[in-house]
Amino acid sequence: MLDNESFMKFADAIRRKLNFDMSGYKLERMKRRVDFLIRKYGFEDYSDYLKILDGDPSKQREFFDRITINVTEFFRNPDKWEKFKRYIAEEMKVTPRGTIWSAGCASGEEPYSVAIMLEEMNASPINYKVLASDLDPNILEVAKKGIYDQRSLVNIKESLRDKYFKKLDDGRYQVVDKIKERVTFRRQNLLSDPFEKNLMAILCRNVVIYFEMEAKEKLYKKFADALKPGGILFVGGTERIFNSRKINLEPVEPFFYKKALT
Ligand SMILES: C[S@@+](CC[C@H](N)C(=O)[O-])C[C@H]1O[C@@H](n2cnc3c(N)ncnc32)[C@H](O)[C@@H]1O
Repeated sequence: MLDNESFMKFADAIRRKLNFDMSGYKLERMKRRVDFLIRKYGFEDYSDYLKILDGDPSKQREFFDRITINVTEFFRNPDKWEKFKRYIAEEMKVTPRGTIWSAGCASGEEPYSVAIMLEEMNASPINYKVLASDLDPNILEVAKKGIYDQRSLVNIKESLRDKYFKKLDDGRYQVVDKIKERVTFRRQNLLSDPFEKNLMAILCRNVVIYFEMEAKEKLYKKFADALKPGGILFVGGTERIFNSRKINLEPVEPFFYKKALT
């Protein structure tokens, strides 16, 4: 039976076996995705699906691919990136070294965009670093390779493309080593793992849409604590933080919050 109660039991087993906690996510959305896989295999019960997941890395990979949506591109919302660059330039005047974190980085386009931006600003790679993390181990492998279809590069000017990508024989593009080396990738669950501290900026865009309100609120509080005073939080287009001042985040304009100085 694919009822809610059985799904909750399945979610509990996934937490124990795959160390992935679905409780912060919108239940209906998660259930729809898992049910799709169950039907694909012709099962009628979560327990049958659990049996084939257990100990089979390729099935586990498919499971994670299905429940996490990894769509992204370089410099997504280009006009916002212009603004982000200005905030970072301001911050650099008072912060001689710092880390910018792409939280929920998917296949890497976002953190590599940050690395390209920093390179264009002549920011030393020793002083200004990029951290990138995602829950999905498969997508992180894709990110580390840094190979993309032309489609992901739509927002990149030809001059930047020629400077920071090499064209492969199959027509795809790979980010050059200088850019790759600026980014450190790691697996991390935003809902349960600890965060670095004193960050200059955090980008968390198009990730929290899957989270329940309570999980979202907790996450924004954790982001606020992880930022240095004056640090910037760059969120997705439809994402708003209610009562952000309560957690020391000043809304500066749509998409951007700044951690209070005191
Ligand atoms: C749509 S992508 C966003 C990519 C990029 N930030 C952007 O806006 O283009 C969402 C990413 O969030 C990741 N994600 C979902 N839940 C997560 C969690 N609990 N912890 C870390 N990453 C998570 C997914 O694996 C996916 O790669």
